[in-house]
Amino acid sequence: MTTFGDLPLNRGGARVIALVNQKGGVGKSTTAVNLGTALALLGKNVLVIDGDPQGNTTTGFGVEKAGALPSTYEILMRQAGIETALRRTEVERLDLVPATINLAGAEIELVSELSRETRLREALQPLVEQYEYVLVDSPPSLGLLTINALVAASEALIPVQAEYYALEGLSQLTRVINRVREALNPPLHVSGVLVTMYDGRTRLAVEVLEELARFFPQQMFKTQIPRNVRLSEAPSYGKPVMLFDPKSRGAQAYMSLAREMLEPAELQV
Ligand SMILES: Nc1ncnc2c1ncn2[C@@H]1O[C@H](COP(=O)(O)OP(=O)(O)O)[C@@H](O)[C@H]1O
Ligand SMILES: [Mg+2]
Repeated sequence: MTTFGDLPLNRGGARVIALVNQKGGVGKSTTAVNLGTALALLGKNVLVIDGDPQGNTTTGFGVEKAGALPSTYEILMRQAGIETALRRTEVERLDLVPATINLAGAEIELVSELSRETRLREALQPLVEQYEYVLVDSPPSLGLLTINALVAASEALIPVQAEYYALEGLSQLTRVINRVREALNPPLHVSGVLVTMYDGRTRLAVEVLEELARFFPQQMFKTQIPRNVRLSEAPSYGKPVMLFDPKSRGAQAYMSLAREMLEPAELQV
């Protein structure tokens, strides 16, 4: 285990990936649910942590948001160990730490607490040998919940919607990622920028893609996620799109993204 200052920095064999973009509606939660599922279908042990009080990722897996069981809030507030918050999902090899609206309180309550930025990283320590991929969803802001996701992660994955204002906010996001790296988390890097809701027939979408590639020349995923109605319908059935409509373009695109993310040596098919 390496340490940086006094901080535990053990990620074991896990790739811990924070899904971040302070803009809402760009596909963070959709990616948490469906990339997580795709990785599990490719044989990986996956943990998804819902770090957004809106709980869209939790809903997307059909996991109940009400109830007395611990969730991300209790984990961050050190009221429960992360093992007690794990929920099995319909997806084999994929577990979820759900979020409830309580989590909105953590953003405020953590401000006056010690080690407020490193809570999630600490909490993850017992699990890093158990999972190969940990995906952390985050809310549409650059507050403490997003910072906790970035401090826990080794990689940031940035979903960007192919639309007119796509690049707005990305410089600010990049600055925050750089600050977190310098202050708390040296290994953190942007491992990928994912274009979502892409429609290659429109000139705007193509232009946005080109502009993004200038901004992130090394980090664009080859896979784009198309705009696909099945992706937006699946959450109301509490299912990842692969279980809802595996042949849909949305399901195929997330499978292809997952394959792109695996190391070449891990790819059997
Ligand atoms: N590729 C896509 N095609 C169609 N609808 C999508 C796609 N990705 C996301 N959506 C829908 O867009 C909305 C915002 O997506 P979401 O993943 O919740 O964004 P975020 O978590 O960044 O706020 C949701 O209603 C979702 O179902
Ligand atoms: Mg979301």
